Amino acid sequence: MEPIDLRSDTVTRPTAAMRRAMADAAVGDDVYGEDPTVNQLQDRVASVLGKEAALFVPTGSMGNLIALYLQAGRGGEVLAHEQSHILHYELGSGAALAGCQIVALPGDLGILKPEVLSKAVRSPGYANARTKLVELENTGNLAGGTCYALEDLQAIRVWADKAGLPVHMDGARLWNASVAQGLDPALLASMADTVSVCFSKGLGAPVGSALAGPKAVIAEALRIRKMLGGGMRQAGILAAGALYALEHHVTRLGEDHHHAHQLAEALKASGWARVPVKPQTNIVFAETPGLDAAEVAQRLTSQGVWCSALSSEKIRFVTHLDVSQAQVRQACQIIRTLF
Ligand SMILES: Cc1ncc(COP(=O)(O)O)c(C=O)c1O
Repeated sequence: MEPIDLRSDTVTRPTAAMRRAMADAAVGDDVYGEDPTVNQLQDRVASVLGKEAALFVPTGSMGNLIALYLQAGRGGEVLAHEQSHILHYELGSGAALAGCQIVALPGDLGILKPEVLSKAVRSPGYANARTKLVELENTGNLAGGTCYALEDLQAIRVWADKAGLPVHMDGARLWNASVAQGLDPALLASMADTVSVCFSKGLGAPVGSALAGPKAVIAEALRIRKMLGGGMRQAGILAAGALYALEHHVTRLGEDHHHAHQLAEALKASGWARVPVKPQTNIVFAETPGLDAAEVAQRLTSQGVWCSALSSEKIRFVTHLDVSQAQVRQACQIIRTLF
């Protein structure tokens, strides 16, 4: 049996049609600004997100780092959720490379609220760091693929404008939020000044992300990307995969969400797992009370269902383009009869 790989939505491989689009892409030297496919992708992303400009970057991590570099900078503070990807999985790059300090804030299901943000803003005392940026993650990965309700985003936007703070949205899975909530990605993106999005997760492209925002910020972002070693040459081959993904793989994300729901139901019925958060998108967390999560993950793996152990009593399943309905059914069956 072929493994059912539910460890992450980053494991997808380009489809045959995507590979053809990549092979056929018109390319040029993007460091000269001459790659037509990269330029087309950047224009398309700016338009889909309703922003003035966008920049193709190799990874979501680089998109976030550039946003922090430009909007918080050395000695600046970034207000972010305590479960955010920038805190847990980006190697402290905000501190190491952008020179900023991230303040970890609480909030149910990965959601920040203005009351919490307000309390964290530094007063302008001589010895205080300067609060410079708010960072939101939508959907929240470690929170369980949760979406910000539009009202929560609006409340933060209003609060941040009053506080004079820019907002960066880590929208690695903004597409999932948009499909799950039936909301235009541009509406969600309008709640932030800069937005990073990924093509290499649920959308199934092999590589690539983008940072979108005001023209002046993106012009500077181009310089910082080069400084970080991210100036790419005939990157149109990659951009073509991203364009293909945007065109063909966004609306189908609803299937992944449905699959996540089915896995959650099987886990609930299994007798050995607890599902603490009803999946909103393509991520399912299960607690394994009394069982070692790594051992449970190993047992599932030995039966062909791959997942991740996130802590001693928590496992994670992520649905994606490369997992079919038949495989999800099979995974559900294995989950139900695991013990
Ligand atoms: C929420 C979130 N932000 C950012 C990233 C970073 O993306 P990349 O792996 O392309 O650096 C990820 C990766 O999984 C993520 O889940």
